[in-house]
Amino acid sequence: MKADQPTLPKILVLASGSGTNFQALVDASRERDFPGQVIALGCNQPKAFALERAAQANIETFVVDHKGFGSRDEFDAALIAHILRYNPDVIVLAGFMRILTPSFVQAFRGKLLNIHPSLLPKYTGLNTHQRALDAGDDTHGVSIHFVTEELDGGPVIAQAEVTVAPDDTSETLAEKVQRKEHLLYPIVVRWFCEGRIQLGSDFVLFDGQVMKTPMRLPDN
Ligand code: GAR
Repeated sequence: MKADQPTLPKILVLASGSGTNFQALVDASRERDFPGQVIALGCNQPKAFALERAAQANIETFVVDHKGFGSRDEFDAALIAHILRYNPDVIVLAGFMRILTPSFVQAFRGKLLNIHPSLLPKYTGLNTHQRALDAGDDTHGVSIHFVTEELDGGPVIAQAEVTVAPDDTSETLAEKVQRKEHLLYPIVVRWFCEGRIQLGSDFVLFDGQVMKTPMRLPDN
């Protein structure tokens, strides 16, 4: 970047596993005109494959291994300290499989995005694909929401649907949902970096207007 160009909003990603969403964000951020830069990846799992992806992409990493802490509060305090060193504009949870304490959420209120593999408010928590199958749902999908103190309960910004086929298993459904995740997360992070979405008290503002329903990408 040239010295006279304004600095792009700084995106810090937190992940615990494979990091395919982290990769999608890195790839998107390297396209021309993307309004943000991925500056760091933090993991709670020292062996997360996401760390290798970051190394390949020349992106700084840090690990805060939750197993080294006696309580969630101590872990979150260490995580907050690491994050503050980067002064990010947005913290993107991309398969970060730790429940965050209210003090963590309050430290970064309005700057925390999460991706959850269901059409919220359905199926908060784990095993979302199997639960959608067990319920006989014909539509499933992914949601991206602002993080609040309530687990998977913050206001939803955008969702993408997948059609459940009669022969789908939890694995095939997970693959279909992940393909949508990789499309949808960069779109929402772009909106955030452009200043188009903001967290209100318990709603999303889009271009300054209260969003009555989340943006929905239908299956095609
Ligand atoms: C994604 O499918 C994401 O929706 C899910 O973890 C996966 C991470 O995949 N997140 C949650 O379940 C959060 N509760 P990735 O490491 O390949 O991006």
